[in-house]
Amino acid sequence: MPAIPGTAGYAAEADELAVRYESYGFEGTHGPILAHLPETGSVLDIGAGTGRDAAGFAARGHEVLAVEPTAEMRAHGQRLHPDPRITWLDDSLPHLERVLARKQRFAIVMLTAVWMHLDAEERRIAMPHVAGLVAPGGALAFSLRHGPVPPGRRMFDVSAEETSRLAAEYGLQEVVRLENRSGQQQGAGVTWSRLVMRASE
Ligand SMILES: C[S@@+](CC[C@H](N)C(=O)[O-])C[C@H]1O[C@@H](n2cnc3c(N)ncnc32)[C@H](O)[C@@H]1O
Repeated sequence: MPAIPGTAGYAAEADELAVRYESYGFEGTHGPILAHLPETGSVLDIGAGTGRDAAGFAARGHEVLAVEPTAEMRAHGQRLHPDPRITWLDDSLPHLERVLARKQRFAIVMLTAVWMHLDAEERRIAMPHVAGLVAPGGALAFSLRHGPVPPGRRMFDVSAEETSRLAAEYGLQEVVRLENRSGQQQGAGVTWSRLVMRASE
């Protein structure tokens, strides 16, 4: 098990995943929720993988902090998306120490296919940090994977209901919930929940 348990399996598969994750496309991945995100302001993408979404937001004019603890994934991201609006950072949930040290808040915080890598205790530690990084009026978006765990990975089945309730404890209000959607990012029996929470102005 790596030092950051949720990253299990990613370093070894980074070359293959870079091709697969990039093929999903930014709009293909986030089309159903994009209208519910602020159109301007900085973006924090936690568990940014190979940077597909960081690049998508950068192309729309956002400054993006792309946080990714797996060096092999980060290296693909930096190679594939050398956009000056993207800053890459080696940091991880649940503590996000380097992100918090920057004392910045973000109009959009993305957690795309990463929250389910945390166990219940890690999720309880992480949520106040994550919620505190959302600027007034900003959005926090989750994409939660359900279904069989790929060999070598560490995942938990986390519901949209639990995630929404936990985020609400830290002042965020649910504005979008899309349950159990199949999509491009699926193997047999895999579905996704999408959640957008907003901070008050
Ligand atoms: C399924 S991939 C998703 C990558 C990207 N968000 C996307 O949608 O293409 C999950 C990513 O989360 C990262 N990750 C795993 N555990 C993490 C943690 N504790 N903190 C931050 N990122 C983590 C992995 O290294 C991996 O790049």
